[in-house]
Amino acid sequence: MTDDWWNDAYDDDPPWDVGRPQPALVRLVEDGVVDGRVLDVGCGTGTNALYLAEHGHPVTGVDVSERAIEQAREKARRASDDEDRNVRFRVADALDLSADLGPFDSVVDSGTFHVFEDEQRGTYVDNLAAVLRSGGHAFVLAFGNDAPDDWGPNLVSRDDVTDAFSSDDWRIDDVRETVFLANHGDDEVAGLLAVVERR
Ligand SMILES: C[S@@+](CC[C@H](N)C(=O)[O-])C[C@H]1O[C@@H](n2cnc3c(N)ncnc32)[C@H](O)[C@@H]1O
Repeated sequence: MTDDWWNDAYDDDPPWDVGRPQPALVRLVEDGVVDGRVLDVGCGTGTNALYLAEHGHPVTGVDVSERAIEQAREKARRASDDEDRNVRFRVADALDLSADLGPFDSVVDSGTFHVFEDEQRGTYVDNLAAVLRSGGHAFVLAFGNDAPDDWGPNLVSRDDVTDAFSSDDWRIDDVRETVFLANHGDDEVAGLLAVVERR
């Protein structure tokens, strides 16, 4: 998918924009395992980023779509009536992140890994490694193998995650089945959550 394709998607109401934080992310926050400064990579209109900010995390949301970032900034303005906002949004390509963005203590990915093709995944995880501090964690939430295979994203298996994060930069802590909210929040589909530590 091109940058224009993603931009055009935000002219409508894309089905992945579910209007509430993903339950798997909420669980991570409630369990206290998301640490410190967070990068929400492929943040869309910022629902997850704003949830994290409300829970005390300084958050940077990045997305390749300018329209998504405009909408995220507007949501942030509406969510806070003071100037002391804990969240910032930037247009950026996750396959070409500036190291200046970081360092972060955590990276949250809700539905971004699964839009990349196999041959892009190595570049993607190298970019995450460049902005995540040693000992920090990436939380990657994707459509799992049992999700519908004709809704758009790639279905992601344990092996896909293991292969993508196989370099010396990473240690895979956990890959577990979970649910992924889709279709404006009307459907819960099979999801996969990977927790990966930056060495
Ligand atoms: C399935 S949507 C998920 C959006 C958001 N995380 C959410 O949960 O609502 C995938 C997002 O990745 C963004 N994206 C796609 N390719 C990207 C890239 N190369 N760099 C940054 N963002 C990208 C899209 O614009 C889109 O917002």
